[in-house]
Amino acid sequence: MKVCCIGAGYVGGPSCAVMALKCPQHAFTIVDINQKRIDAWNSDKLPIYEPGLHEVVKQVRGKNLFFSTDVAKAITEADIIFISVNTPTKTFGVGKGRAADLKFVESAARSISAAVTEGHKVVVEKSTVPVKAAESISKILKTSSSVKPNASFQVLSNPEFLAEGTAINDLLYPDRVLIGGEQSEEGQAAIELLCSLYESWVPGEKIITMNTWSSELSKLAANAFLAQRISSINAISAVCEETGANVQEVAHAVGTDKRIGPYFLKASVGFGGSCFQKDVLNLVYLCECLNLPEVALYWQQVININEYQRRRFATKIVSSLFNTVTNKKIAIMGFAFKKDTMDTRESSSIYISQYLIEEGARLTIYDPKVQDEQIDRDLKSVCEDDELVGRHVTISHDPYDATQGAHAIVVCTEWDEFKTYDYEKIYQSMFKPAFIFDGRLLLDHQHLESIGFHVQTIGKRASVTQNGYH
Ligand code: UDX
Ligand code: ADP
Repeated sequence: MKVCCIGAGYVGGPSCAVMALKCPQHAFTIVDINQKRIDAWNSDKLPIYEPGLHEVVKQVRGKNLFFSTDVAKAITEADIIFISVNTPTKTFGVGKGRAADLKFVESAARSISAAVTEGHKVVVEKSTVPVKAAESISKILKTSSSVKPNASFQVLSNPEFLAEGTAINDLLYPDRVLIGGEQSEEGQAAIELLCSLYESWVPGEKIITMNTWSSELSKLAANAFLAQRISSINAISAVCEETGANVQEVAHAVGTDKRIGPYFLKASVGFGGSCFQKDVLNLVYLCECLNLPEVALYWQQVININEYQRRRFATKIVSSLFNTVTNKKIAIMGFAFKKDTMDTRESSSIYISQYLIEEGARLTIYDPKVQDEQIDRDLKSVCEDDELVGRHVTISHDPYDATQGAHAIVVCTEWDEFKTYDYEKIYQSMFKPAFIFDGRLLLDHQHLESIGFHVQTIGKRASVTQNGYH
């Protein structure tokens, strides 16, 4: 079979590369309208950082995995076409700030419709889309097949559950593969075709098939449940800080209940990433459109708590630094939305930085993977005054430079390397009193306190030091 994947991003790239690795008998072409991205995929410097991805790409690129900007050609030749384009939250018009912007999905569907003149194509939506998006894709394609009688299409939903930073492992050993399709003979045949691809490496019992809407909604629901767990533990973290309870101990105790489970109970400075906020908002919007305001309000609260958590953390930094950060140097450690990725979409670091910049702080930002231009773009997109960003932000490539002369260190991303630094040396080079705000419960707080740092973290009351600081 020939398989085409439209969209060479965080989802399309890794998922298609792993398919190519596991299905050497089939040929995969990943296409994108972005020439620079495709050039990067064809080079030694891939456009995204993902542990293990380069090794997989090196094994299959040029054999049965190809990257190209010739979208029409790859579509024409393919038996199966995955749509893996981005579906950001709408920034204008009806549903602004909540509904998903489907313009990229629609343009991909129109590219398919324009390119295909004959043959049967199975079109698979892999991007996370609102419920009923498959129906819209189907409508666009059916209009095309009505004027091209030799062309026919079946649209399937096959949402991707990989998480960035662990994408390769998630793809090699998925918890489940979800395939939704039309409940008809043709729909069933398409489902079986896609199943045959996954069966090359995924055990049959992990491949779940269902109707298209269930599949689309399952993806939104799964992300909403995960985001909700984080907001739940973050809400508890606020109670911990007020009562003297320790959120890690509470999470452990709660998570040992089999019915609850230990995962995704890590209190933090708030969840980021391209999916959680977008998908929960998407669900909220769907519920509003379906006239289910109580359900919409319920899920909206997951987002509200996330914003509250970011705000709470940022205001704690200012109040601890004697209620003013004006002209104080603060080192922001980590800008990616989680470790092991260079992705900054919806990263809490952006919002914490914005708050501190607007309070007059001078920030030095260090992240082991995120590119300088990305940090600059992200901050300029949230701060009203571009010049303010220019004047207040320095991007550093060395953690010791970043922290030198700083009043405070703010850990926003849980990069492993942050645990390995020489904090004695860092302490010596900082302004006193030297503060560390650990937004990820990452560092050894006792050790830091023994050096002399004032440590504040999430979900734990700061110990009172001999100087009386909290
Ligand atoms: C998520 C889903 O996990 C994945 O299944 C879906 O396909 C896409 O969205 P991703 O956004 O890549 O994946 O990363 P994830 O590991 O889920 O983390 C999302 C955010 O939540 C990160 O900012 C992370 O730091 C935060 N998080 C996660 C917590 O704050 N606490 C936790 O316990 C877990
Ligand atoms: P995701 O995290 O969902 O993979 P990305 O933004 O990383 O999102 O990747 C989506 C990719 O899809 C981008 O590289 C973008 O250029 C590409 N894309 C968007 N619309 C089209 C289209 N109509 N045809 C081909 N590629 C597209």
